[in-house]
Amino acid sequence: MTATEAEGQARLASTLATDGYLDDGRLRDAFEAVPRHLFLPDRVWLDDSTASTGYVLVDRVSDPDRWWAAAYSDVSVVTQIDDGAPEPLDDHWATPTSSASRPSVVALMLAAADLRPGQRVLEIGTGTGFNAALMAHLVGEAHVTSVEIDPRISAQARASLAAADCHVRIVCADGEGGVPSRAPYDRVLATASLLRLPQEWVEQTAEGGLIVAPWETAMCPHGMVRLTVRGGRASGRFRTPVTFMTLRGQRHRARLAEMFTDEAWEEARHRGLGSRPALLGDDDARFAVGLRLPGVHYWEQAGTGHWLCSEDSWALIDDDAVHQWGPRDLFDEASAESAWWEDAGRPHVHDFGLTVTPGGHTAWLGTRESGPSWPLFG
Ligand SMILES: C[S@@+](CC[C@H](N)C(=O)[O-])C[C@H]1O[C@@H](n2cnc3c(N)ncnc32)[C@H](O)[C@@H]1O
Repeated sequence: MTATEAEGQARLASTLATDGYLDDGRLRDAFEAVPRHLFLPDRVWLDDSTASTGYVLVDRVSDPDRWWAAAYSDVSVVTQIDDGAPEPLDDHWATPTSSASRPSVVALMLAAADLRPGQRVLEIGTGTGFNAALMAHLVGEAHVTSVEIDPRISAQARASLAAADCHVRIVCADGEGGVPSRAPYDRVLATASLLRLPQEWVEQTAEGGLIVAPWETAMCPHGMVRLTVRGGRASGRFRTPVTFMTLRGQRHRARLAEMFTDEAWEEARHRGLGSRPALLGDDDARFAVGLRLPGVHYWEQAGTGHWLCSEDSWALIDDDAVHQWGPRDLFDEASAESAWWEDAGRPHVHDFGLTVTPGGHTAWLGTRESGPSWPLFG
């Protein structure tokens, strides 16, 4: 490693440590030992608010300063957009579909997974292979299995791991099925976000083992669950929210364009707004309402207002009016759930939990035994 590379790596570890992400000394050792740049391709996409798609392509050869700065900064480095399209498919929008996640987020998730030497770990979403290499440092390379759905990303990760002299098992498959041939695992760690936990992950986790995964609902893209598996059931609380790209098979999109027509606007029920529900301005409220109303999308759009959208209905909330269309009064439903959240004492993300059994997903508030609980999907 050159002096510049070593200096970049030390600087990143030091930044993360100063910001409180590497309190566990073993985690700090791992970040100091694994060079992130070895896992980044020469051409990467970086966040850039001046670019029409929000991302700019940066080439290591033609713009080395920017490439190296990204490699050793606490930023996510996007390595694939639009499932491998050479250019964004839309002039105004690029969807990141693989990345080296932001190092502080990687550290948060590894800390939640509480990895110990000798534990068998399954990672879902190999991506660049950087996280797999960090895990190998923590548990031993023979104990790490990582599964990636995209063949090109998987092949690139294999090559990067080989270049880093790290010999973990890389599998190219849909990780929603886990990797049964290497089960059971003491830890299952997803680095792509879920709306539903695959039962296979529970079945492949050893008794007392942990599943750590980014969690999202259609309403709120931020979340993280840490579930302990016992007796075929996975249960635990939500943790500090993180945001990841969604597992391929669980991607979802609001169907507003098909339903928001001139005719629908004529038919819509229009009225004054009155008081504004907390969910329009509070992340904790939106997280809670997302758990109460799965399948209802929410977003705010400059110039129009706040939108809610389900399979068959939509609502628009602008400065002083509400417009609702379809069989569901989505604004009224969301407002009622937002009022429930206020009545419950405005609980934080960490106050909620999730239990997954072969029979389904149950969300709860407070404790699983005594708090209010409700089925997540019907
Ligand atoms: C944020 S990246 C992972 C970052 C990675 N852990 C790293 O260290 O670079 C998410 C990855 O999950 C992969 N992915 C999405 N759905 C998947 C699935 N069903 N099974 C396996 N991998 C999946 C994507 O192709 C992408 O490479």
